[in-house]
Amino acid sequence: MIIDGKQIAQRQKEHIREEVATLAARYGRKPCLDVIIVGENPASMSYVRSKIKATEYCGFDGELIQLPASVSEDELLRVIRERNENDRVDGILVQLPLPKHINEQRVIETISPEKDVDGFHPSNVARLWLNEDAIVPCTPLGIIALLEQSGTVFEGRHAVVVGRSNIVGKPIAKLLLDKNCTVTIAHSRTADLAAVCKEADILVVAVGRPGVITGEMVKPGATVIDVGINRTDSGKLVGDVDYESAAPVAGAITPVPGGVGPMTISMLMYNTLKCYNQRITNLSRNNH
Ligand code: GUN
Repeated sequence: MIIDGKQIAQRQKEHIREEVATLAARYGRKPCLDVIIVGENPASMSYVRSKIKATEYCGFDGELIQLPASVSEDELLRVIRERNENDRVDGILVQLPLPKHINEQRVIETISPEKDVDGFHPSNVARLWLNEDAIVPCTPLGIIALLEQSGTVFEGRHAVVVGRSNIVGKPIAKLLLDKNCTVTIAHSRTADLAAVCKEADILVVAVGRPGVITGEMVKPGATVIDVGINRTDSGKLVGDVDYESAAPVAGAITPVPGGVGPMTISMLMYNTLKCYNQRITNLSRNNH
């Protein structure tokens, strides 16, 4: 079975669009997401375009702020702080990676946690690991939705996550743990990665290198989630999993493109709506 992320994401965006129409009529204001991009990295530009397109589809307000690659860290922090203070803005996203002269962690920590639609702020990370209500990073949320929608059983299953980034590896491992999977976090330096992966009922691969996983590393019938988006020399988009050899062995697999990618975007819309709802609740509480 091929897990159709594009279709699942589309259904989610349709639901959000309907909800936004109702909320905007009730509160006289639409959710608003401001997206900041620094420089002109082609992959980042393409992701940001998809994010803006989705906000328009869902009926959100928002602004795309394009800053030159030479922008100073102070200036970027000023742009963020202005939006932290601005009541019009519900969500702030700074597309990563940033140029080397800018401290990425300082940028992440400057975004107000209430407007942190990526869920990267240390306060949201802590809340996730403490089982408190948190903004959860979009890609891990999208992966859980794909697994749920494709009828995956979690309880008692062995999930192997290949990759340990703050954006995907660590948070998806936490979410799978919450679903009562037994979780192994592996990475590019795991000794005998093939043997570890072969144990996985659910295999999530987020390394950022094509061909890390081949068919002989996949347990027959396993669900394989490919988070990688890599461009080959000929310009073709491929994941981290060698699809040709893995798909015949897997019980279910996500394609690239059309798997995890669209879910990251629809979950960004979900997180923006969540920030909007929380801000409306908090603002009305503070006014009474
Ligand atoms: N770069 C790659 N993935 C992401 C993401 O989910 N959010 C942001 N802000 N930058 C990214």
